[in-house]
Amino acid sequence: MKVLAFTGSMRARSINRRLLLVACGRLQERGADVTEIQLRDLKLPMFDEDMETALKAKGESMPEPVVKLQDLMLASDALLIASPEYNGSLSPALKNAIDWCSRRADDQGPLACYRGQVAGLMATSGGRLGGIRGLPEVRRILSGIGVHVIAHDFACPGAPVETTADWPDDTVRSGAHRVADALYDTTAALLAARG
Ligand SMILES: Cc1cc2nc3c(=O)[nH]c(=O)nc-3n(C[C@H](O)[C@H](O)[C@H](O)COP(=O)(O)O)c2cc1C
Repeated sequence: MKVLAFTGSMRARSINRRLLLVACGRLQERGADVTEIQLRDLKLPMFDEDMETALKAKGESMPEPVVKLQDLMLASDALLIASPEYNGSLSPALKNAIDWCSRRADDQGPLACYRGQVAGLMATSGGRLGGIRGLPEVRRILSGIGVHVIAHDFACPGAPVETTADWPDDTVRSGAHRVADALYDTTAALLAARG
C-alpha cells in the first residue's frame, strides 16, 4: 500500500507537519510505503486556467511541479492530509494543490489523480478548535471529486505553534494513530476487494 502524506501548510515549522509525521510513523509500522512531501518544497504556481490553456496550445504538459505532484498521487493508493485552518476553512496552499491535481494528468483525463483514492484527514492549531472547522471543507471537496474520505478524522486544539516544545503527548498521538489505522484498514480492504 502506497500512501502520499502532506500538509496544507507552507510554514517551515508547521505544527500540522509534526502531527502528520506521527500518523506517518504509525502507517509505516503497519507496513505502508509512505512518501511524505512538503508543498513548500514543490513550489506549485497559483492555479491559472490561462497558463494551463497556453501550455496545452503549445503541446506542453503541466508545469513541472504539478506533474511531480500528479505523478506522486497517481502512484498512491491513499492520501494522508493534515490541514491547517485559515479563517475557518482550508489553507490556500492545500486548495491550490487539490485544484492542480484535479486537472488532466497526461492522457489519463481529469480527476485521474483522485480515482480510487482513500483519504485520512487531520488538523491542528494553537486555538481552542484545533482546525475542526476546516476539516468538513476538505472532506466536502475531496468527496466531491471521487475520493473516499474515511469517517475518522482528528482535530487537535492547543498545539504549541510557536515553540519546539515536546509535542505531541500520548492523547494526541492516539488521535493521530486512530486516523492512520482507519486509513490503513480501509485502504487495505478496498485494495483486497479490487483484487
Ligand atoms: C490567514 C490565517 C488565518 C488563520 N485562521 C485560523 C483559524 O480560523 N483557526 C485556527 O485555529 N487558526 C487559524 N490560524 C492560525 C493557524 O492555525 C496557525 O498559523 C498554524 O500554525 C497553522 O498551521 P501550521 O503551523 O501547520 O502552518 C490562521 C492563520 C492565518 C495565517
